[in-house]
Amino acid sequence: MNKVELIQTVRALLADNKGLLAMDESISTCNKRFAALGIPQTEEMRRRYRELLVTTPYLNESISGAILFDETIRQQKSDGTQFIEILINAGIIPGIKVDMGAKPMVEFPGEKLTEGLDGLPARLAEYSKMGARFAKWRAVLAIGEGIPSKECIKANAQALARYAQFCQEAGLVLIVEPEVMMTGNHSLKKCAEITEEVLQTVFEQLYKQHVLLEGMLLKPNMILPGLNSKIPETVDGIAEATVSCLLKVVPKAVPGIAFLSGGQSAELASARLNAMNKQYKAELPWALTFSFGRALQEPALEIWRGEDANTVKAQRALKHRADCNRAACMGNYNSKIEQGFWQEEDGNRR
Ligand code: 13P
Repeated sequence: MNKVELIQTVRALLADNKGLLAMDESISTCNKRFAALGIPQTEEMRRRYRELLVTTPYLNESISGAILFDETIRQQKSDGTQFIEILINAGIIPGIKVDMGAKPMVEFPGEKLTEGLDGLPARLAEYSKMGARFAKWRAVLAIGEGIPSKECIKANAQALARYAQFCQEAGLVLIVEPEVMMTGNHSLKKCAEITEEVLQTVFEQLYKQHVLLEGMLLKPNMILPGLNSKIPETVDGIAEATVSCLLKVVPKAVPGIAFLSGGQSAELASARLNAMNKQYKAELPWALTFSFGRALQEPALEIWRGEDANTVKAQRALKHRADCNRAACMGNYNSKIEQGFWQEEDGNRR
């Protein structure tokens, strides 16, 4: 492991209040999103969509890194240029999702354990040779009647820590993503309790496996009520609950926390990230940024709908969301910035 290089890559990912674009949906997840909009679910359509994302003009102004999927890291633009090369030339650091997905956990109904440790060192070596500088592993924890169990939390944390060790050995920065899901009718308080327990268990395991905390990013959920919860929560309430949970369990040595969006609307995700930075940035030991998938891509995908004629407008929508979230990292996001895109429908770059 080259510690200096790992730390430099993490710093580059966090520099200048930028964040990450998660474009690492598995084939089945990407197909589901395409199906909902009537887009054909073929490899060529997925390639065209990812080409739209990676060729978005000036995306590097707000995006420091992009997380790719195995299919995508091997794909090229229509002129033959590898996507990974396009990203590197644009000043965006390429990363790769390396887990093989969350699978039902045997004997634990309703719970999942992320797989992908078998053969991981060889895959990491291949991705690193291709140009990837960081990796991501996602664990999912659902809240429900009697779940998540302690066994599920621990098994996922152990897998995350093993992945972390392999990554570090391969010289890749690691993103540790234990996602407590939004699905359900649980309260904000319940989400806070479970997230705290999950993160505490994850850091215990990382510590036991001698993981270099300075060479990682944490990618957690925000503290939110379940999607079916009837209790309304304010943006400030969510910001306060999220920051106080993270302060209890995330060591100071971790340089940055890059949130997943988890099914929040694009605007709410920006507003909540903004509130955290606006109110607490000065007193936090780590940077708070974004590593959104849906909250960055959804507006662009809805505009594109598989039609080349919509590509430029879809790219502008992606760039706009990236800019809104960079503003949120500085605590500067507001309704004027949000509406800026729609006021400039003339096609001029803002
Ligand atoms: P969302 O922001 O859509 O939750 O995606 C982030 C991610 O990387 C999921 O693994």
